[in-house]
Formats: sequence, C-alpha cells, structure tokens
Amino acid sequence: MAINYEDRVAVVTGGGAGLGRSHALFLASRGAKLVVNDLGGDVQGKGSGTSAADEVVAEIKTAGGTAVANYDSVASLEGGRAIIQTALDEFGRVDILINNAGNNIENSFRKMTMEEFRAVLDVHLMGAVHCTQAAWQHMLDQEYGRVIMTTSAAGLYGGHGLSNYAAAKIALVGLMNSLVLEGRKRGITVNAIAPMAMTRMSKDAMDDKTGPLLKPEFVTSIVALLASEAHTGSGDIISTGAGYYSKIGIVEGAGVYFGADAPPSPDDLAARFDDICDLSQAKPHGDAFSSVADAMRNVLRGLKS
Ligand code: NAI
Repeated sequence: MAINYEDRVAVVTGGGAGLGRSHALFLASRGAKLVVNDLGGDVQGKGSGTSAADEVVAEIKTAGGTAVANYDSVASLEGGRAIIQTALDEFGRVDILINNAGNNIENSFRKMTMEEFRAVLDVHLMGAVHCTQAAWQHMLDQEYGRVIMTTSAAGLYGGHGLSNYAAAKIALVGLMNSLVLEGRKRGITVNAIAPMAMTRMSKDAMDDKTGPLLKPEFVTSIVALLASEAHTGSGDIISTGAGYYSKIGIVEGAGVYFGADAPPSPDDLAARFDDICDLSQAKPHGDAFSSVADAMRNVLRGLKS
C-alpha cells in the first residue's frame, strides 16, 4: 500500500508558502490532518498576516482534505506552544512536525547587527526548539513521532553574508542528533533535509535555467517519506533538489595518535597536519561517546604497546 498518513496529525510551520505549502498539500492529500502554521510576514520575518496560511488551508479543503490554520510566530515560546495546542485542540494529537518556517536577513558579518543575528536564530533554531518541545511530551507519551528539521547547505558548508542563517541551520543538526537519542526508544524519529527549491526566499539566488527545475514538490517527496510510519530511520540529513537525493554525513577521520606521555609540539602537529586531516578512512559516529571511545581506544592501544 502506498505511504499514507491516515489518522495522523501533522503540523507544518511556515506552511503558507514555498516548501511548507508543498509539504502541507502533499501530506493532506495522503490523509493527514493538517495544522498549517504561517506568520504571513515578509522574507525577513517582519509583519504578519493570515492570508498565507488561510489560502493553503482553503486549497487543502477544496481538494477534500482536512486542515486548520494557525498564525502564531514560531519565534516565541508561547507561539510554539499555541501552534501545537492548535493540533491538540482540533485533532486531539500531534504525530508529525515539519519545522520549516524560516526567514532570511542577509548581511556581511562585519555589518550584521545583533538584532539581525538573533532574529534569524529565533525563527530557525528557537522556532524548531519551541515547536518540538511543545510536541515532544505528547510524542513520548504516544510512543510515536516524526520530526523533520529544515537545515541548509548554507548551514552545513557556510554562505557569504549568511552567518546568522548558517549558524542557525547547523545548530538544528546538533538539536536533531540529540533528539534522535532521546526519542529512539519511544518511537520518535528526527531527520533533517537540506533542500534546494525556487521559492520567495531563494529566487534571487536562482538563474533562469535551473530555477524552474527546482520545484518544491521534489523536496516534499523526501519529507513525505521521512514523515511516514513506514520509515523508521532517524538522524539522517538528506540533501535534495530538482530530483536529486543524497545523504550528508558528519564523519571523523582515522586521525593520528601521538602518545599520551606528553603533548606534541605545534611543530610535530604541523608535520603531520595532512594526515590529521585525512578523511580517507573517515566514519560517522552514532553519538558523542562513540567518538570519544574511539579516541580512547587509540590511547589504550598506545599504553599497551
Ligand atoms: P518561503 O519564504 O517561501 O517560506 C517560508 C515561510 O515561513 C513563509 O511563508 C513565512 O511567512 C514563514 N515564516 C517566517 N517566519 C515565521 C515565523 N516566525 N513563524 C511562522 N512562520 C514563519 O521560503 P522557503 O524557501 O519555502 O523556506 C522554507 C524553509 O526551507 C526555510 O527554513 C528555509 O530556510 C529552508 N531552505 C530553503 C531553501 C531553498 O532553496 N528554498 C534552501 C535551504 C533551506
């Protein structure tokens, strides 16, 4: 049977436009009851309005689906709680949370004000924190949850003029990795996507040739899989756009062991820096202890020899 979300309740933050709209429409088309949240402001996150969320809710209803709008900002704790409460009040549960709401305030780091930096952290990072924490206890209690974080290539690799955005987006990966561990035994998976799609936020960075290929629906396909009961994998970051899907990993190289008797000099490290940075035998770690344990195994091996 095709993947579906019958009897599931999904919340899509920033669901009034772009990627969020596409996610909401698809989940609803396969049976999920939707809370379409959107603040309805501009790209920077300023202003507010009800039409963005309302229009997507209307689209879902016209197509025969079930949805309710919410206009709160994810950036406040009260907003995050109210968004999840809307799902509980209207539909009695929350199974799927797509943390998608996002703003963008570009500026060189030199010129960036702390207000600009915080305004972006507040939406992307704290927005996901507020909504996920509000849903978390319910997911723990029902022993089921699907949480998706929306990270970004800019966060994973950096972007000029995007220090605030990048910092927020990589922080979501740290959040995900810890929630993976806390949700693992209670049926909750947490995954992330690093999307590319032509939307209001990204259109200035797109050219005429590739832009039209980057349809949000291509991103939605992987979100729909990660949000499904059928998919039980957790902690993956999937890069996606225009029909391309690949896993992005955080890996650690085999490293160089200098012995635990005395610290190597900076000159010793300089001589072996290429080997220290060699990723040819790199591997991922399931958690921080795994990485530390590997390092300690080297130390113990050194003590024995
Ligand atoms: P978009 O600007 O079309 O949609 C973002 C939506 O979030 C808007 O409808 C906006 O009103 C809403 N929003 C903003 N602040 C909010 C708040 N405080 N509370 C509730 N809603 C709020 O942009 P797009 O591209 O659809 O972005 C969706 C997500 O995907 C964002 O997290 C973005 O950072 C991320 N992303 C997008 C990429 C792309 O190529 N379009 C690339 C990488 C990441």
